[in-house]
Amino acid sequence: MNIDSVEVFRKKRREALDYIQDKTDLRPNFMLILGTGLGQLADEMDVETEIPYDEIPHFPVSTVESHHGKLLFGTLGGKEVVAMQGRFHYYEGYTMQQIVFPVRVLKANGADTLIVSNACGGMNPNFERGDIMLINDHINMFGDNPLIGPNDDELGPRFPDMSEPYTKRLLDIAETVALESNIKMHKGVYLALSGPMLETKAEYRFLRLIGADVVGMSTIPEVLSAVHMGMEVLGISVITDECFPDALEPVDIEHVLEAAGMAEPKMTRVIVGVLRKL
Ligand code: HPA
Repeated sequence: MNIDSVEVFRKKRREALDYIQDKTDLRPNFMLILGTGLGQLADEMDVETEIPYDEIPHFPVSTVESHHGKLLFGTLGGKEVVAMQGRFHYYEGYTMQQIVFPVRVLKANGADTLIVSNACGGMNPNFERGDIMLINDHINMFGDNPLIGPNDDELGPRFPDMSEPYTKRLLDIAETVALESNIKMHKGVYLALSGPMLETKAEYRFLRLIGADVVGMSTIPEVLSAVHMGMEVLGISVITDECFPDALEPVDIEHVLEAAGMAEPKMTRVIVGVLRKL
């Protein structure tokens, strides 16, 4: 494991921030992370500036084919936003520190709210492929997290509280938007582990038993760093496959992307609706 000192990490953040602030005058309060198969939300955005990740000093570069790998600055739902089109996954080999680097940098650029989306497997028997779920809590089973290592007290506390990682006020607004738009939306617990393999039947049975409604391979690192820095967080999962151990079907990435595509318009409506109400 390779963890930067506080000073080295500060310098890297500064250099990335300087580069970004050279390219755009926007300092959006809202940061969006678009998950697997959910990049189309960007089409709804009025994009002013695009910055490919590989241009930004110290930014990791996205390796997953279904991810585009750029920052989009613009407006959505009447608000200034910055969207990450493509995120970094632990299974790609990035360190936790690399995965959350964009959140650290964009917070320094003015973001105080993180809206994060992901694709996941549904384990709650009430959930169907193509449904969406508001994340109201999580279980971290990465066996790692981005807060390990020297703590930069300028960013946040050594021992951050996790009694409400997903902001109640934002959950309430999102539920109101879904109700008003006639969108069926669940609420539940997101559990993440490293991947890249999907889970065995025995693992799904276990994960359900310990309290998770859905399972995925992302989101929690970014949320932990956001909460560490005092940001408000809204998380939305798209259920791309049904993970019921007694009726488990094989799943491939095309199947996941197809379901993400089915759910995307609902997720987009909820996110745009929340932004309008904020
Ligand atoms: N498990 C983990 N991650 C996932 C799944 C799953 O079943 N489906 C989509 N992402």
